[in-house]
Amino acid sequence: MAEDKPKGLQEKLEKNVFALLLMVAFVLSIGGIVEIVPLFYLENVLEDNALASDGSPRFPELAGVRPYTPLELAGRDIYLREGCYACHSQMVRPLRDEKERYGHYSLAVESKYDHPFQWGSKRTGPDLARVGGKYSDEWHVAHLLDPRSMVPESVMPRYRWLKDAPIDVVSLKKRVGAMKAIGVPYSEKEIADVSTAVAGKTEMDAMVAYLQSLGTMVKFREGRDYRE
Ligand code: HEC
Repeated sequence: MAEDKPKGLQEKLEKNVFALLLMVAFVLSIGGIVEIVPLFYLENVLEDNALASDGSPRFPELAGVRPYTPLELAGRDIYLREGCYACHSQMVRPLRDEKERYGHYSLAVESKYDHPFQWGSKRTGPDLARVGGKYSDEWHVAHLLDPRSMVPESVMPRYRWLKDAPIDVVSLKKRVGAMKAIGVPYSEKEIADVSTAVAGKTEMDAMVAYLQSLGTMVKFREGRDYRE
């Protein structure tokens, strides 16, 4: 008996594995598009764009989010270079245990000048989104030189070379310029003054400045949601 010719779309797809794969990819992408595309044009994806009925900013404390200083930006780049993100996330989830441990959950606006953002999900070590101000600068230096001197059971590697490494000013200036090119509001003067801003600083100074800035730009009220 001769095999039936496939009839109808469904039967054709089920008998051709490539057509089926294409169709599956197409159908699944609809879900992605519906979730992602609105984020490109909705105004209040960034919480600081929310306006009160009189047109003033609804949450003025969110205006505290600022670009990193050149020194902090240098620290951030060292954070990327050293792969700190392989063990540390920077996003407090809106779950009770996270809020009790780290503080207010992370808002999108807090990483609006972070390119690329460091949210992540791998946590061999604790989340660092709110580590700024938690310890002294001296603690961070001692911890980065030898984590076990501060936390005996730590598995974090040592980062001893940061202490004597000078900051690469020439490339830092370009990197600040690159941030400006993608929309971070640095002024021409700030870019021109990069070398004075980081004069005499080491990579360790930059890393500590960066860590101390994390999570400190919005002044959240203790135990309160930012919308309350
Ligand atoms: C192999 C995984 C690993 C890597 C890579 C790593 N860390 Fe850690 N980190 C940990 C662990 C585990 C802890 C918790 C124990 C401790 O405090 O040392 C920690 C703790 C910390 C803390 C203290 C957090 C707190 O709230 O107590 C800071 C700050 C920190 N790391 C910064 C860094 C920086 C900066 C880098 C990159 C230069 C880095 N870490 C790389 C694993 C890692």
